[in-house]
Amino acid sequence: MKTDEERVETVDNRESVTFGADRNKDFSKEPLCLSGRDVTRIFHTGKTTTVAVDHVNFDFHKGELISIVGESGSGKTTLSKMLLGLLEPSGGEISYMGKPRDISSGAKKREYWKGIQAIFQDPFSSYNVFHKIDDVLLDCINMTGGKGLSKEEKFNKMTEACSFVNLKFAELTNKYPFELSGGQMQRLMIARIFLLKPSILLADEPTSMIDACSRATILDMLLKLRDETGMTVIFITHDIGLAYYISDSIYIMEHGKFVESGPANECILHPKAAYTKRLISDVPKIHEPWDLSTVG
Ligand SMILES: Nc1ncnc2c1ncn2[C@@H]1O[C@H](COP(=O)(O)OP(=O)(O)OP(=O)(O)O)[C@@H](O)[C@H]1O
Ligand SMILES: [Mg+2]
Repeated sequence: MKTDEERVETVDNRESVTFGADRNKDFSKEPLCLSGRDVTRIFHTGKTTTVAVDHVNFDFHKGELISIVGESGSGKTTLSKMLLGLLEPSGGEISYMGKPRDISSGAKKREYWKGIQAIFQDPFSSYNVFHKIDDVLLDCINMTGGKGLSKEEKFNKMTEACSFVNLKFAELTNKYPFELSGGQMQRLMIARIFLLKPSILLADEPTSMIDACSRATILDMLLKLRDETGMTVIFITHDIGLAYYISDSIYIMEHGKFVESGPANECILHPKAAYTKRLISDVPKIHEPWDLSTVG
């Protein structure tokens, strides 16, 4: 039986990656941008009742990178949809910028969405297939008050956004999203965020469809964006090792509840909940020799 410290050693090769959180910053002193008290969502389908999110409490601060970690079905996407205002909570309260969130009208919702944006698991579902890439980017410029800019200024903004994510605008212009690779599409999503500059970015497994190399690049870009704009990033993932590399704070979700939360170091190096300990012990032990004798 391994001790907690030994178990953690297997995921602690953080120094070898170029990205990573500034472990010393205390975000609890930063202003609150999104918080929740007893946020709950219950689904009723036929005779079945599912408590997908069960009385969760959270405080997300300006500039903080938060990971919400949990296995499939733990309620991560349901919570994300409530945070985005796409799904009504069945109970509890969400506050935005220190005040109770009010998205009761279409106009208030649109205002809220200027402050919170998302990138999703499946980039293919995130674009209107009939819109050319130029239109995708132009929409972002128009949404952020750039309607009156000259053609040249708009072109410069689009070029800048593309080069931020290592794409060449000249190669994308006049193309449709389906003509891009999965990795290019993911990057285009980040280029949109670069233009929109929301206060909060919610990323639901944004790297699940791409290879490990592009994955590191995408994460690097997200972190660069956070550092340059001070946006809060909420990262949703199954991967506790990845959450540890990149996060300031971690919330561990099991069956709709947060069973553990706190600074990433605390959560991973000194886990208290049995579920967190199990997630950590499931991280592949890449530094240990493989025992192939057990493979049938
Ligand atoms: N629209 C819905 N109607 C009924 N039940 C739902 C609905 N959406 C989600 N659920 C249920 O709520 C629970 C949480 O689902 P959710 O999609 O939030 O999990 P998740 O953590 O995002 O999973 P994954 O990692 O697979 O994406 C599951 O039991 C799911 O079946
Ligand atoms: Mg999900």
